[in-house]
Amino acid sequence: MTSSQDQGNEFYALTVNGMRHQVQDAWVGESLLYVLRERLGLPGTKGACEQGECGSCTVVMDGEAVCACLVMAATAVDADIVTVEGLSTDGEPTDVQRSFVDAGGVQCGFCTPGLIVAVHALLERNSSPSELEIREAISGNICRCTGYGRIFEAVRQARDTRQQGAQ
Ligand code: FES
Ligand code: FES
Repeated sequence: MTSSQDQGNEFYALTVNGMRHQVQDAWVGESLLYVLRERLGLPGTKGACEQGECGSCTVVMDGEAVCACLVMAATAVDADIVTVEGLSTDGEPTDVQRSFVDAGGVQCGFCTPGLIVAVHALLERNSSPSELEIREAISGNICRCTGYGRIFEAVRQARDTRQQGAQ
């Protein structure tokens, strides 16, 4: 871990979306969610329950989808972190983002970023997830509005589009 302490505050760097970011004068106990949003200016990661229950704050850390509200940022100095802002290149929507739009799976701004990140993580490690694997992968992403039908359809579309592209 590369960091220095000054009167209880930490100076360290995080690798987020392929770039090294300096975090200065941060309290050592700050969550990754807080640091991303309030110190690094990356508000795409949402905070709702802040207890690991809802998935709004999902980011990818070293290839795994995690709840940023449960990670202490200062412990993530050696990790490769990807937020929803880092998924696309040149401002173009990703295949998963397009499938969410096409299938009507974009239902609210709180849940959608976390769902998109979780689905990217799923498809990166498993290019042909079964229905059960899809459900397991987003079981920690809670929707409280219209339900999961269109969200599941969006994931199936993204999976099928990737498989067709690989053939
Ligand atoms: S805000 Fe992190 S799981 Fe709800
Ligand atoms: S998608 Fe956010 S509450 Fe349903």
